[in-house]
Amino acid sequence: MVSTKPILKLEQIEKTYGTPANPLCVLHGIDLRVEAGEYVAIVGPSGAGKSTLLHIVGCLDRPTSGSYFFMGDDVAGLDDHHLSQIRKTRIGFVFQSFQLISHLSVLENVEMPLFYARVPRRERHARCRELIDRVGLGHRFDHLPSELSGGENQRASIARALANDPALILADEPTGNLDSATSKEIMALLRDLHESGRTILLITHDNDISRSAPRRITLRDGRIEHDIRSDGAKARPKKDLVRTASEHGDAPARTAGGKSLAPCGDQGSAPPPTAPTPEAQD
Ligand SMILES: Nc1ncnc2c1ncn2[C@@H]1O[C@H](COP(=O)(O)OP(=O)(O)OP(=O)(O)O)[C@@H](O)[C@H]1O
Ligand SMILES: [Mg+2]
Repeated sequence: MVSTKPILKLEQIEKTYGTPANPLCVLHGIDLRVEAGEYVAIVGPSGAGKSTLLHIVGCLDRPTSGSYFFMGDDVAGLDDHHLSQIRKTRIGFVFQSFQLISHLSVLENVEMPLFYARVPRRERHARCRELIDRVGLGHRFDHLPSELSGGENQRASIARALANDPALILADEPTGNLDSATSKEIMALLRDLHESGRTILLITHDNDISRSAPRRITLRDGRIEHDIRSDGAKARPKKDLVRTASEHGDAPARTAGGKSLAPCGDQGSAPPPTAPTPEAQD
């Protein structure tokens, strides 16, 4: 069920790579609000900034400027230690390339987040076996990733993403390496997780997958081009819904991580290189 409290809220997020002398702005003033329990597909051409945005949302990276509130906390300017704490406890990641550790079994991989969270061994085992069963891999818990099919690897990585019982699941092209039948199984699994109340943000180049999402955001050249719910309503943040940082009682993190690169607006004449993929086009 969708509550009224946003799980995440981005205001004027910008991301610039490169150096002050040679900046490359890849996100230009992103405003985005996602409520707890939403399922959001992010689409757009290659190079549009989708993964960059997901990395910021997932606290894997910091914005160059703008504010980011995750579950009500201003996280844009947090240091590495605090960002890592948020990742470990509240966010689960699923990647196209699975990113399982090759010399560890399925069970050991799924246990990793709980190992770092210092959950006792017996509790870790019990919880992770249950998760592995839940994703349909109960018969493969002691296999190495190299002994699994692509779909099974992705199931294992979804179980690992769930290990710390995260509030938010972020998936970057989770079906990108899978055949269409296996993709459908993985998407059914993610839909089940959504139906059980998880908030999911998913990047995909697959139009069937994105069209079936209740909300679909199109990024192009680092900007939100469309933000549409499946009922056709536009979901762009409204001014009256987006509280300012001063209403939160926090100073906005206009410059994160102590770094100060040229503002993205200065690079209107130098957009990031984009190479649209045919499947990303509607
Ligand atoms: N660490 C980095 N340093 C410099 N430029 C980067 C870095 N990461 C990404 N970029 C650039 O930022 C732009 C956006 O990259 P991003 O990975 O977010 O695109 P994307 O929309 O996820 O593309 P794809 O669909 O191909 O995965 C690209 O032009 C890319 O070259
Ligand atoms: Mg990407």
